[in-house]
Amino acid sequence: MLYNEPSPLEVKILTRRFGLPNSTSLDTYLANDGFKAFFKAIEMTPEQIIEEIKVSALRGRGGAGFPTGMKWSFVPRTSPKPKYVIVNADESEPGTCKDRLLMEYDPHQLIEGILIGGRAVDAHKGYIYIRGEYRYLIDAMNRAIEEAYARGYLGKNIQGTGFDFDLYTHSGAGAYECGEETALLDSIEGKRGVPRMKPPFPAVVGAWQCPTLLSNVETFSAVPAIIRDGGAAFAALGTPKNGGTRLVCLSGHINKPGVYELPVGFNLLRMIYEVGGGIPNGKKLKAVVPGGSSCPILKADECDIAMDFDTLAKAKSMLGSGGTVILNEDTCMVRFALRIMRFYAHESCGWCIPCREGTTWIRKLLQRFHDGMGQRSDIALIGDLAKNMLGKTFCPLGDAAALPTISIVEKFYHEFEDHLNGKPCPYEHANELVTA
Ligand SMILES: Cc1cc2nc3c(=O)[nH]c(=O)nc-3n(C[C@H](O)[C@H](O)[C@H](O)COP(=O)(O)O)c2cc1C
Ligand code: SF4
Repeated sequence: MLYNEPSPLEVKILTRRFGLPNSTSLDTYLANDGFKAFFKAIEMTPEQIIEEIKVSALRGRGGAGFPTGMKWSFVPRTSPKPKYVIVNADESEPGTCKDRLLMEYDPHQLIEGILIGGRAVDAHKGYIYIRGEYRYLIDAMNRAIEEAYARGYLGKNIQGTGFDFDLYTHSGAGAYECGEETALLDSIEGKRGVPRMKPPFPAVVGAWQCPTLLSNVETFSAVPAIIRDGGAAFAALGTPKNGGTRLVCLSGHINKPGVYELPVGFNLLRMIYEVGGGIPNGKKLKAVVPGGSSCPILKADECDIAMDFDTLAKAKSMLGSGGTVILNEDTCMVRFALRIMRFYAHESCGWCIPCREGTTWIRKLLQRFHDGMGQRSDIALIGDLAKNMLGKTFCPLGDAAALPTISIVEKFYHEFEDHLNGKPCPYEHANELVTA
């Protein structure tokens, strides 16, 4: 069965083979433009490939939105050291569930993107780092890799082109922090998954101290279409400097939850009401988490907005990893802040104090507050603690925990006050979706 009913508003580039009979097989892939981009890339110089990616205005789909072509150009491909391609398939950001579909329904598209990345930076070995909870996907990817080897699309002298590439899957153990690129590198090397100091960045000093091209599953999956149809065609789908389409994961209070491929810059309200069919039971919109739990929340009156990296940054939020969570008028925002902080306190790797202590302290305060034992001074304390984590932690997980908290305290201050007045929780009839 397909993941969800497609929407007529979708622009299917990366998901165009989803729903085809036997979409995971190499034959289906080859019959639907598969590996055309790879053969084209073999005829191009690495510089031309990277230039095409730059023209496409593709920005990393893992969360930060860094321009992919620029990242590829940072890898010193003439270095005498081996170079590696690593795919971040850790997909742990709450609300985000798109990489799994790309691996489940079109694994050869990802393999082709990896090969083109390898060709662009002179790498001949790659790893797909898959979160531990996606065990079934490790099997699915391994089957596709096996098929590609058997048919000469991986291994030595791929299809007689003289290009060699070996690809492996690697399982994480289910730690959110191992999605952070340098913690991922330590994990893949068999160490405890804690982040490394940056710089140097992985492009220069990455896996086993060698230059490493590391990107998200969706980022690599976009590469075949870019090389095949040209960077300009991909760029034209989005907004300036925000090329292409995005797999948006719509969840929460929405009639048609699912993963939809939409042009970057698609309006958020249209996403909710036209793509997602609106909010169940005619309820009003209260807030939206635009791109995963790390993003500052948007109030309902801020949601008439183009979903691209730059517009959301101007609105002091983020496009993040595409996890768009819709919250209706009954949602208790204190409880929602608590739910988010429970996640970060649990996932903090414990390496640095502001994050380890800050997340736990805020979680305890929010719990006490929500349970009706809060004091007025706690509201400011929660905000202050979060602000004191911002920019003071060793890796961005601290910011990821602080940013949504600060936005909830600032934008829904009155709900904290309501909790002081109507103890324990005046929104307790709220809803099942936000269970703290
Ligand atoms: C705590 C934390 C968790 C992250 N989790 C993921 C993840 O699950 N998947 C992912 O692709 N990027 C994740 N990232 C971002 C990566 O560090 C990195 O920026 C990304 O994989 C680069 O790929 P891109 O350029 O394609 O976005 C995470 C970052 C942080 C700080
Ligand atoms: S901010 Fe510090 S404690 Fe938190 S996950 Fe990163 S390194 Fe670990």
